[in-house]
Amino acid sequence: MPEATAAVDLPVAMLAELTHRCPMRCAYCSNPLALDDPQAELTTAEWKDVLEQAAALGVMQVHFSGGEPTARQDLAELVAHAAGLGLYTNLITSGVLLDAGKVRALAAAGLEHVQLAFQDSDAAGVDVVGGWSGALAKKRAVAGLVKEAGLALTANLVITRHNAARVGAMLDMALDLGCERAEVANVQYYGWGLLNRAALMPSKAQLAAMTPVVRERQERYRGRMVIDYVIPDYHARRPKACMGGWARRFLNVTPTGKVLPCHAAETIPHLPVETVRQRPLRDIWLHGAAFEAYRGEAWMPAGCRSCDRKEIDWGGCRCQALALAGDAAAMDPACELSPHHAAMAETAEQEAQAGGTRFVYRAFGPHKHSTF
Ligand code: FES
Repeated sequence: MPEATAAVDLPVAMLAELTHRCPMRCAYCSNPLALDDPQAELTTAEWKDVLEQAAALGVMQVHFSGGEPTARQDLAELVAHAAGLGLYTNLITSGVLLDAGKVRALAAAGLEHVQLAFQDSDAAGVDVVGGWSGALAKKRAVAGLVKEAGLALTANLVITRHNAARVGAMLDMALDLGCERAEVANVQYYGWGLLNRAALMPSKAQLAAMTPVVRERQERYRGRMVIDYVIPDYHARRPKACMGGWARRFLNVTPTGKVLPCHAAETIPHLPVETVRQRPLRDIWLHGAAFEAYRGEAWMPAGCRSCDRKEIDWGGCRCQALALAGDAAAMDPACELSPHHAAMAETAEQEAQAGGTRFVYRAFGPHKHSTF
């Protein structure tokens, strides 16, 4: 058993971003704009060592993600290694590279759960937002393979203004596919998603129309499929406890071994980033400057420090504070007490009403705009 420290909580979960390679080019992707070089990805042996260090540190769940984690040929080997360490294993995938043999191999390796992303219930809608043709049919087939293999399945239903009116159909699809859980995942605007925000943002009216549809399905599907639904930040009154609080429960390891407190932390330019090639995971978690920067409450502005919700939301999201207030140590603008809160909601509504139709699809190398 890892020893507990009085001062610092130990992490519960690790997001293992095995690669930033992905056949899909989703406009809402939260990966950084500067994707990690595939040539510099951690090797199989390095990832196994990271998994061992994570388990020793107290991590209980590993979420294999990307990019598209199934683009790594060694995925089943890494899943088996994680399972052998007693870690709960989850695969976060687009599904488009999976087939029956690969799903069976992953199940045999000890994979326990699959989180499959759906960009729409409409095939053309998936193609536009995902930048990849024919993805929906492939995803539906993969959902069937996952269930045949006896794995738990969650549908991650990515909501934009292009599909908000189809949220009911998306939830019906998830139930038909045998999902035990569906997350109504309003896009979070980091990385490529932030770059494409104007072309993705739903209006307040769309969200207002969506909520009763979700509530009705929650009631109707009770006992058959759990539906998670959180009001998106741009239209919320209180911030979410992003990552369960900075450096409290979660760490992220990128394809090249950078250890981050969240998947978007690289957008905070002054944050000193360390890698597993430089320093043990435990040292980075306990003493790394990036983790210490916003851990606890010492960094909080006065309004957060005196707030009775400070140990509920832990000050909200640092990456969002940087993106919208220009200061990662500012109050999260999702909080109605932030001086930037009104501007955040106004920006969202203006962008939703303007109806922008230009995406920059996720890609390595120079950005290219496309109009859809
Ligand atoms: Fe980085 Fe919220 S995404 S703190």
